Amino acid sequence: MAKIAYVNGGFSLQSEAVINIEDRGLQFGDAVYEVWSFKNYKLLDEEGHFTRLQRSLDELGIDYQVNPVSMKIVIKELIRKNRVRDGMVYLQISRGTAPRDHKFPDDVMPNVIFTVKPLNFVALENKAQKGITITFMPDNRWGRVDIKTTNLLANVLAKQNALDNGFDDVWFFDNDGFITEGTSNNAWIIDKDDNLITRALSNEILAGITRKSVLAAAAQLGLNIVERKFTVEEAINAKEAFITSATQFVMPVVKMEQNTISGGKMGLVASKLRTQYLQNNM
Ligand code: PDD
Repeated sequence: MAKIAYVNGGFSLQSEAVINIEDRGLQFGDAVYEVWSFKNYKLLDEEGHFTRLQRSLDELGIDYQVNPVSMKIVIKELIRKNRVRDGMVYLQISRGTAPRDHKFPDDVMPNVIFTVKPLNFVALENKAQKGITITFMPDNRWGRVDIKTTNLLANVLAKQNALDNGFDDVWFFDNDGFITEGTSNNAWIIDKDDNLITRALSNEILAGITRKSVLAAAAQLGLNIVERKFTVEEAINAKEAFITSATQFVMPVVKMEQNTISGGKMGLVASKLRTQYLQNNM
């Protein structure tokens, strides 16, 4: 079926949707984005993503006021037009269209794009049962990855490098050897004493909305949560590990480079957290 997009106030065929070539998102990556999953037409963690979107816009000084009520109307209509029941919504807002110049343009209107894509929840569940493999790479991204911008070149290159080497993803590590996060997800481990460990929020990671919900699920399950940095060495020696993101929820990591984690299968804690997260959000 033909895909429908929403661009700057109107719906059109995705193949015919138009953005001016002087869009600053295209030329400078001067844009922010958000991703929601939806199941049975219902957005997961909807408010958290709207809140983070406004923060990203404010941090870049993009003059746009997020209105969750009207955005939800657009999203609902887009989902309906595309006839997708379970999927993901992608939203991108750039600073706008202006003759190419590094300085911010005056009086510019942000360009707003929404698209939707189906998500196969059964395939995702099967993937979670098997888990994913990761490798490690130095974090060579810019210093403000807490802002959800479309500047994802380092993430894209890292991901492709992992795939080329037979891994599913990458965990970045900082100059001191501490894991920051994955290419499009937050990183978690469970140590031998059953502590649930994930890096505390800072400019060095994205404040995952799923991360926040999983922390709440972990508290419900009575887990001992420790928000601190952990090293590559600690990751390799973890009892369990997993990633979180809006499109993967809780996804177990079962191999890190040549090291098997959690016997090469989804761990008990990851499994409980995945179930609890989905239960809380659906
Ligand atoms: N990625 N860290 C990075 C670098 C991310 O790109 C993402 C999300 C996350 C997890 O955030 P959340 O739980 O709010 O999805 C962490 C989205 C899914 C993407 O780029 O497709």
